[in-house]
Amino acid sequence: MNVGVLGVGITKFGERWDQGLRELLLDAQIKSLKDANIEAKDIDSLYNGNMGAGPLSGQLHIGAMATENLNIDKPSVRVEGACASGSLALRAGIEAIESGVAEIVQVNGVEKMTDVDTGQATTMLMGAGDEELEGFNGLTFPGLYALLANAYMHKYPKLTRDLLAEVSVKNHFHGARNDYCQFKKEITIDTVKNSTMVADPLTLFDCSPITDGAASIILTSESKAKELGAKVSIIGSGLATDTLSLARRNTLTAIPAGKKAAESAYAQAKIKSTDINLAEVHDCFTIAEIMAVEALGLAKEGEGYKLYQNKDTYFDGRIPINTSGGLKACGHPVGATGVKQAIEITMQLQGRAKGRQVENAKIGVTHNVGGSGATACVHVFKKVK
Ligand code: COA
Repeated sequence: MNVGVLGVGITKFGERWDQGLRELLLDAQIKSLKDANIEAKDIDSLYNGNMGAGPLSGQLHIGAMATENLNIDKPSVRVEGACASGSLALRAGIEAIESGVAEIVQVNGVEKMTDVDTGQATTMLMGAGDEELEGFNGLTFPGLYALLANAYMHKYPKLTRDLLAEVSVKNHFHGARNDYCQFKKEITIDTVKNSTMVADPLTLFDCSPITDGAASIILTSESKAKELGAKVSIIGSGLATDTLSLARRNTLTAIPAGKKAAESAYAQAKIKSTDINLAEVHDCFTIAEIMAVEALGLAKEGEGYKLYQNKDTYFDGRIPINTSGGLKACGHPVGATGVKQAIEITMQLQGRAKGRQVENAKIGVTHNVGGSGATACVHVFKKVK
């Protein structure tokens, strides 16, 4: 598999009261077209990741919104898979190109979450879990991941509270060096430990925030990518699913769908986990990043903590993780996150990640999860020689 990345565009993430859903999407769309140096009429089809615009903005039909934004009438659909919606849109775009249905596609992700209060956003997000078993009984996403954190830290006590907090410290360190990030500030382990308890053991700074933002990427076929001189290719795509509820899950100390998606993407890309130079992973809560590095095979199960003892995951470390700031610091506009991860890896492989540039990176991976692990999508990116 080989699909070229022609251009990327992203809005500033955060509380974007200056722009609505439509404007955020348009801003990212225009930026990716400009970056790819193509015109809207060159796009064959569009795939748009979004989770919550229905309940949060009263707006469905995001596919048509994206084409109306560009004044074109090409095929365009909304793709939904909870917090993995952006990666699923990316995969749909890849499939369109690989099947020959399209030669140039625009993949967008957009979410406008701060126009409602936290309770409304929390209820919308809980739609990613199991309504009958979890939502109805009062569980929230911080609650679900707190259950996972407690189970994990009981089984693997070497993941101490300080090492868990270090995930957030590192992501804020990266975020402070990224202009499109929501929280551009460095923090300490004490900031995390002393912040408000949300769902024991997860405090405010263990949680990703509620965010507005949009991201857009232009993909093309291998031959067109060569013709236009694209510098980055996507060479593997893996998607796996699992139970919606934790109660029906086989394990609470790992996210098996992440591992399955990674294995499938690596097989397609013909790589091993040791070939990976950097990764953007789904750190919706600090415990999720520990489970993600294990799912990607960057650490053995139960040993993810080891990567957080020696600054290995910093941008100048052995295996940089979440150089964008991750979901924690960069923000988590859920439908846009998967596309943002792809943009960060692309910019890193193109040498455009000023202030947080990973040197000599050739292979980068994105890992995006929907719900508490019911959907997981992994993509492998390669720098073109
Ligand atoms: N990390 C750090 N600071 C945060 C933050 C976060 N995750 N969320 C909010 N803040 C800050 C705000 O900027 C604000 O700071 P200020 O007082 O200096 O302006 C302050 O905390 C209060 O913000 P507010 O929006 O009132 O927070 P809240 O208590 O309503 O919401 C959470 C905090 C953690 C409950 C909310 O961000 C949340 O639900 N996060 C999880 C989202 C989620 O589940 N996503 C899906 C994952 S799968």
